[in-house]
Amino acid sequence: MDKFYITTAIYYVNDKPHIGSISEAIAADIIARFKRLQGMDVFFSTGTDEHAQKIAERAKKAHMDPQLFVDEASKVWMNLFNIFGISYTRFIRTSDKDHIEVVKDFFQKLYDKGDIYLGEYEGWYCVRDATFLKDSDLKDGKCPICGGEVQRVKETNYFFRLSRYEKPLLKYYEEHKDFIRPESRYNEVINVIKTGLQDVSVSRKSFKFGVPVPFNSEHTVYVWFDALLNYLTSVGFLTDKEKFNHYWPADLHLIGKDITRFHGIIWPAMLMSYGLPLPKEIFAHGFWNLEGAKMSKSKGNVVDPAEFAEEFAKKANVDKETAVDTIRYYLSREVPFGLDGNFTMDTFYRRYNSDLANDFGNLINRTIAMLYKYRDGIVPEETLKDEEIIKLVKDKEKTYIEEMDRYNFSKALDAVWEIVNALNNYIQVKSPWQLKERTDELSSVLYTLLEGIRHTTVLLSPFMPFTTERISKALRDDSPVSKKLQWGMLKPHIKLEKMPPLFPRLKIEKTVVKEKENLISYEDFAKLDLRVARIIAAEKVPKSRKLIKLRISLGDEERTIVGGIALHYTPDELVGRKIIVIKNLQPRKLMGITSQGMLLAATNENEFALLMPDKDVKEGTKVS
Ligand code: MSP
Repeated sequence: MDKFYITTAIYYVNDKPHIGSISEAIAADIIARFKRLQGMDVFFSTGTDEHAQKIAERAKKAHMDPQLFVDEASKVWMNLFNIFGISYTRFIRTSDKDHIEVVKDFFQKLYDKGDIYLGEYEGWYCVRDATFLKDSDLKDGKCPICGGEVQRVKETNYFFRLSRYEKPLLKYYEEHKDFIRPESRYNEVINVIKTGLQDVSVSRKSFKFGVPVPFNSEHTVYVWFDALLNYLTSVGFLTDKEKFNHYWPADLHLIGKDITRFHGIIWPAMLMSYGLPLPKEIFAHGFWNLEGAKMSKSKGNVVDPAEFAEEFAKKANVDKETAVDTIRYYLSREVPFGLDGNFTMDTFYRRYNSDLANDFGNLINRTIAMLYKYRDGIVPEETLKDEEIIKLVKDKEKTYIEEMDRYNFSKALDAVWEIVNALNNYIQVKSPWQLKERTDELSSVLYTLLEGIRHTTVLLSPFMPFTTERISKALRDDSPVSKKLQWGMLKPHIKLEKMPPLFPRLKIEKTVVKEKENLISYEDFAKLDLRVARIIAAEKVPKSRKLIKLRISLGDEERTIVGGIALHYTPDELVGRKIIVIKNLQPRKLMGITSQGMLLAATNENEFALLMPDKDVKEGTKVS
């Protein structure tokens, strides 16, 4: 049996997970499930990266022992992964005992070999990205990756002789054009190597949280040197030789584009130095934004995926697992995998309603309803084979497999939807309600639909593991993995269970979308300069039914504004009143008079009321 070893990056535990971070685990899970479907022996590793300086700082802030802090924080990630159906084989933590031994062993061996030596480091360190930076790396004095503050560091550190691996790396890259995908990332890395590699710091002296250097406990192993080794520990590097030899090298490291250089340069050089084979492929995916903005805590737009799933479940009146599957589906369908994506509530609700409720959900509901109506819920025999639809299913399955092999999830799903659409269309064309009840033709149409649904369910299972499991249970599909995509595996003469609608239509879509569209940020609101103004004089604008010209005082200045209020107020009753105006509106001309601002009023079809402060406040006072 072929093996497939897949990994995700391991997650820093100081921050809460967000939609972007879970997206990588979901993508890896989809690949892992797909490979299992292909009969492979899959090892899927993910976990938490716990020895970063920022984590120790966070623990200190929370007045917690760092180990207790990471124990708690790591659980948050593990629970989230369980909720999202991430079918990992091992959830590795860099604080795991076997991992600490691997880090020590590796550091020692590279030191013994002369590839690690003691030197003087002077430069910058970005705590957020755990990255050493040179003067020339900085952008406006800040970290080029996250844009955050950097610290000046001058300390005695151990260095890894990365420069020694410049030529071997270049040669490897030239011989393995697919080592990093997509191609843009490959080019990025090879260009960095070509500009020349310098030795890199692999220990910290000023910082104690982490794995101590085995031969000098005053130093702590650099968090990236430590973290990258998780890929070896996970498959039993020091604890289980047989397992390690079976699974290593990794078939795929799935990572985000921000950490390509660590994986594409330092990691292979470390492996070359130790004398281990390199991973077969590194795939660096893009980043998810939320409603057009980078997800970050400082922006306050971090959506906790578990909370989001719960909220959506309530809105759509589905259970949490269906909500999770919807998120998994959306992340895979909306944007070609590898590119950056923009998560918007609008497109999320639309995808749910159109793809899941309308197309897939309806197909199942209608088919099961007809099966009950015409055959008491019992699967009929397929006496007449519908070769055309069988061929279409087979063709699309071929496309699906080709696209999945290249991690083109959205294209693979396009192929599945071609089957779903063809089956919905098949119902229209065959119009089972017009066929005579006891005929072979009706039996065959029903069988074709059910078997088509079984096939789409298998194809969707890597993406939506929870709902597809329910459907395949309802279809009583116990076919072996190797025969899942064989036409005709659905057993005739068995009674199928009725299923409640899996994806009920989201009725609140319009209001929700509208609410979201109408939301403005506080910053937008703060742009309005609203003031209390006193009306000094008022007169009707000649030849206008509605307009009144007002002279107002804002305390330190007077202005003229024109308002459409003549149908509701006389000029006389306005003089002396205090109203609210927008001071920083661009001037505009009304009936030849320049209005330098605008008054505020509450209006509907029948009523009109000027906004006025309910106590006497000084003119010019700001309204916020
Ligand atoms: N701990 C390091 C990785 C060490 S691997 C030996 C790290 N951790 S992280 O928590 O910052 O990021 C984990 C993964 O999530 C990375 O691959 C990163 O690119 C990915 N993502 C973080 N934010 C993301 C989005 N907004 N969108 C998609 N992926 C994102 O880096």
